[in-house]
Amino acid sequence: MSAKRIAVLPGDGIGREVIPQALRVMEAVGALVQFTEFDWGADRYLADGVTVPPDGFAMLDREFDAIFVGAFGDPRVVTNVHAKEILLGMRFKMDLYANVRPVRLLDSSLCPMKGIEPKDIDFVVLRENTEGVYTDAGGVFKQGTEDEIAIQEDINTYKGVARIIRYAFEYAERNPRLDGGPRKSVLLSDKSNAMTHAGGLWQRVFQEISRGYPQIAPKHMYVDALCMQIVRDPRQFDVIVTNNMFGDIITDLAAGLQGGLGMAASGNIHPGRTSMFEPVHGSAPPIAGKNVANPFGAILTAAMMLRHLGLSVEAGRIEAAVLEAVRQKKTTQDIGGPLGTREAGEWVVARVQRI
Ligand code: NAD
Ligand code: IPM
Ligand code: MN
Repeated sequence: MSAKRIAVLPGDGIGREVIPQALRVMEAVGALVQFTEFDWGADRYLADGVTVPPDGFAMLDREFDAIFVGAFGDPRVVTNVHAKEILLGMRFKMDLYANVRPVRLLDSSLCPMKGIEPKDIDFVVLRENTEGVYTDAGGVFKQGTEDEIAIQEDINTYKGVARIIRYAFEYAERNPRLDGGPRKSVLLSDKSNAMTHAGGLWQRVFQEISRGYPQIAPKHMYVDALCMQIVRDPRQFDVIVTNNMFGDIITDLAAGLQGGLGMAASGNIHPGRTSMFEPVHGSAPPIAGKNVANPFGAILTAAMMLRHLGLSVEAGRIEAAVLEAVRQKKTTQDIGGPLGTREAGEWVVARVQRI
């Protein structure tokens, strides 16, 4: 087998601290991978005005098997234009329509809820990643006056909704729970009681597609109620499918159950095409450059990427090493340990070589 070619975009802020740790771990576990790093991000944009070089996305698609990303966002770029063009650019222009965000609890000490154990939290949020209110459709009129009008359109297409819902049912069929049991339900979350046009489309398509998967129970919950239920009883969830914005919000909430944003992994996937993997967290400017950011979200994201590329053995070893680090409190301070970013990464590097 030839080495998997991985484009690495550390980006801004803590992305530049956590990504190097994840790269070291992938090397230490002996994964057959080859990294090519790109400097896309705030520094580059501020230096030469370039966010994505010409042909950038086509080049990523053509020359790489996967893309590994840190985070984008820098207080010096107030418009956030570089993050929009690079991060949302990859999601939209490479058509990475399924944002897969698993929610897992490695150790009960990480969960702020009492009485919750790892077996109680094992669900996934599948977020539509190419439409919704993120398309930038809309505009402003009479800006800067008291008559200003700002319109942000919510775009929902039949094809876009259908493919993420189908992905959710396929995911439920193909990805058993961590305990080996089958996934039994797909839950659609929306706000169809208020946003009736978009909600109506999602509801109809969900019913239509669910009929093709009689062994999987179709469920529904309004997104406000879902947020309440996630913190009341996360045991009930299996596969959640939702739109772009609700998925963004739900996955930060769910990260809170896992030990915070420093623990959450994600993939931006178009089956069969070059896909992109990134921790759920952002660039966290206030803690950047201090060697305090938790690298485990990035390291678990690396494992997710390796599994996607067929390197499941290496992925499993990385996950086992992170689990052991959490159990032994060889972690950064956000989840209760005494280590810095580099030291926590170093511990996992040493551990994967012994598993
Ligand atoms: P954030 O995820 O950067 O931080 C939210 C909170 O979580 C902060 O308290 C931060 O200190 C903490 N946190 C995040 N990651 C952590 C880690 N690995 N270890 C320890 N603590 C961690 O979100 P924000 O503050 O809303 O946004 C900061 C910038 O990042 C903004 O520019 C935003 O647009 C951007 N952002 C980018 C992405 C991305 O590129 N995927 C995702 C989210 C936010
Ligand atoms: C995420 C982030 C992005 C999003 C931002 C940076 C645009 O919050 O990946 O969750 O909203 O999708
Ligand atoms: Mn987010």
